[in-house]
Amino acid sequence: MSKRVPDPRENISLPEIGEGDRLSIPQHIAIIMDGNGRWANQRGLPRTAGHEAGEDALMDTIAGAIEAGVKVLSVYAFSTENWKRSPAEVKFLMGYSRRVLRSRCDELDAWNVRVRWSGRRQRLWKSVISELERAAALTKDNTGLTLVMNLNYGGQAELVDAARGLAQAAVRGEINPDRITEKTLAKYLYLPDLPEVDLLIRTSGEQRISNYMLWQIAYAECVFVPEAWPDFGRENLWRVLDDYTHRERRFGGAVDQVQNLEGS
Ligand code: IPE
Ligand code: IPE
Ligand code: MG
Repeated sequence: MSKRVPDPRENISLPEIGEGDRLSIPQHIAIIMDGNGRWANQRGLPRTAGHEAGEDALMDTIAGAIEAGVKVLSVYAFSTENWKRSPAEVKFLMGYSRRVLRSRCDELDAWNVRVRWSGRRQRLWKSVISELERAAALTKDNTGLTLVMNLNYGGQAELVDAARGLAQAAVRGEINPDRITEKTLAKYLYLPDLPEVDLLIRTSGEQRISNYMLWQIAYAECVFVPEAWPDFGRENLWRVLDDYTHRERRFGGAVDQVQNLEGS
């Protein structure tokens, strides 16, 4: 039922981003793919139909990210809090994640995408973990976009797991607690080699973080778009990128910009 997304290696034009702006393309984009249930319900369909419609949105957005030259795209697919949903929806989401990974893996491999998983093992279905590991192994040598699937992911859970790792290393005498810095803690995150998030996007109009990448978004630019996730795609991504190029990132620094009021 899903439409085929054109291969991003075919020359897709980037109408929204000028050549000069390519320099300020974010290295790492994180997306909270939200609004599937409402999208479906508004059409008289069950919530699960919204999740299914999200597959094309994801493939199209990945194609758009590749074309724009983004290095890392992280996508929030299932949070540590999503277990609170009905057993039927949780079951659907697990089976669906497994199916999408299996059916899209070869295509992603052909696009030179490296698939990685970030999340907690505990409670996640074993068959989903196997599929994530299979996709990661198959694509491990790919050099294009890194696609991080945040599945059974929670920002607080990740920090708790990092704290546990640090404490265990301290007990073994491998680190001195007095010397723990931001850099030390960052080594204990799920994927410590990834750059911090430059741009965070959330679809569906909600303006909250919902426990996503709490450490990594410290200085991310945030864009909240009204479209539900199934209506998002490469063109929407490029519009957000255009917005991002006009942001001034300060990282806590300051620039003296005294206005010249003469003659006013
Ligand atoms: C996002 O859409 C997908 C997941 C959280 C798995 P939702 O399922 O949250 O859809 P809404 O926000 O209820 O519309
Ligand atoms: C965040 O969306 C999680 C994912 C997109 C996977 P939710 O729909 O679970 O977040 P809340 O409950 O609206 O904050
Ligand atoms: Mg939601």
